[in-house]
Amino acid sequence: MLQLSWTTVDPSPVANQLLAIVVRTDLDTAALAARFGVGVRDAAVAAQFTGKPGESFVFTRTHGDLFERVALFGCGDISDAAAARTLAHDAVRLANSSGATRLVLDLRGCDPSGDANALRIGDVLSQGAELGLYNYDRYLAEDKRTRRVTREVVFVAGSAAPAEATPRGVTIARAVARARDLVNGPAALVTPTYLATIASDMIADLRSERDVSITVLDRAACEARNMGCYLGVAQGSDEPPKFIHMTYRPKGPSRGRVCLIGKGVTFDSGGYSLKPTDGMLDMKMDMAGAAAVIAAFEAISRLALPWETHAIVPATENMVSGHAYRLGDVLTASNGKTVEINNTDAEGRLTLADALIYASKLAPDLVLDFATLTGACMIALGPRIAGVMAKDDLLVEDWLAAGKRTGEAMWRLPLPDDLKDQLKSKVADMKNTGERYGGAITAGLFLSEFTEGCRWLHVDIAGPAMVSKPYGVAPVGGSGFPVPTIVEFLTGEVRKP
Ligand code: BES
Ligand code: MN
Ligand code: ZN
Repeated sequence: MLQLSWTTVDPSPVANQLLAIVVRTDLDTAALAARFGVGVRDAAVAAQFTGKPGESFVFTRTHGDLFERVALFGCGDISDAAAARTLAHDAVRLANSSGATRLVLDLRGCDPSGDANALRIGDVLSQGAELGLYNYDRYLAEDKRTRRVTREVVFVAGSAAPAEATPRGVTIARAVARARDLVNGPAALVTPTYLATIASDMIADLRSERDVSITVLDRAACEARNMGCYLGVAQGSDEPPKFIHMTYRPKGPSRGRVCLIGKGVTFDSGGYSLKPTDGMLDMKMDMAGAAAVIAAFEAISRLALPWETHAIVPATENMVSGHAYRLGDVLTASNGKTVEINNTDAEGRLTLADALIYASKLAPDLVLDFATLTGACMIALGPRIAGVMAKDDLLVEDWLAAGKRTGEAMWRLPLPDDLKDQLKSKVADMKNTGERYGGAITAGLFLSEFTEGCRWLHVDIAGPAMVSKPYGVAPVGGSGFPVPTIVEFLTGEVRKP
């Protein structure tokens, strides 16, 4: 485990350390020469190191008998959360890959401690450092796994003010890592039953310190609640569905009751509207929303945030079999609304329909859902930006502001009522899919039919939940998106309408 600490003075060097020094874009060559000698300055200039974000320049020196690696890091704008997180992440990775047991990260060149956001920067720097050693390598041979060499990170800053935020940053990073692990786990491992077990173990762990509880509804219990849409998706699979409901109640005053719903399709074959191989290849990730809310739930309760929090996951597979749901079937949701199935691959919205109805019965102040819902959202916004949909402008503003503070990219899409025409059915109250164009929006409109009386916001995370080319702190695979923003949103001010 990585040990993180803060200091305002140069720590005395130890054997086998990496000293990483952040420098501004306008590299101060005179200061560099004064600190490390003209040789280092000339070499850095010759290597065209200018201190731009993402650039680094590495050299070695000796302190008496001690050999020390030194890396100059361009830091860009350290009050930008994504930039700060990436900086700490990259420094830890470099330390680990160069065999350093300790990283000293000297931030005084872009000092965060005087910044009004010192705590937030301390938080994201700690997140980045902790995530620097994240790897999903449990299925690799021992000698192919990345060794964890770096044990300690010492941040050097103008004041120790950001230190206070380190425990929070570490808690959030561990939640992100947990969400990633769940997404990266093969679907044969991460079944609905497995998700329920992880959630139950989490509650057992938290129970001694926090007021938490869990209910897992099995197929029969969901039948008793008439969750026909969710069960329709589940009926094709031999894996039993599990409807997971975790609750956390703060000890002190509560700002309200929030339901966090996560799409938990542990494998999406498409059903009879079968996906081709390329489209199915990554569909173990179709429970990334579930992973995010289960992981965020842990961070929220560990951090004792002042919201009564309900994490709700309708977990199931979407499979093909002799007992799978068919095209043309009509499913009845738990509020009595009927849905004609014109595409069995639009299964996420069906599972969420019953989850949204379930949530609305808890009389929540807020309902937020997170779902890898549509490929169309990736067509609209690209692979790194999540789509945010809600009727409530104030709620969207507060959610997007939280995303800005954590550096997670999101963009609002509209919910125009006239497109609901696309969901009209001749035999049922609605169909489950509309036309090709605007598919993210019609999916959002479908969900909105099940949110009556709720302040509700929908986040389509189909793009950023899984990464194919690494960026920022995200390696290939599950990203843990948007765990940091969920936690941040419930930490900051949420305005009432
Ligand atoms: N899980 C998929 C959406 C998805 C696609 C997530 C790619 C991540 C990457 C969802 O269940 C789905 O299949 N959606 C269909 C909807 C369509 C049938 C209206 C889609 O996007 O094609
Ligand atoms: Mn699907
Ligand atoms: Zn799906």
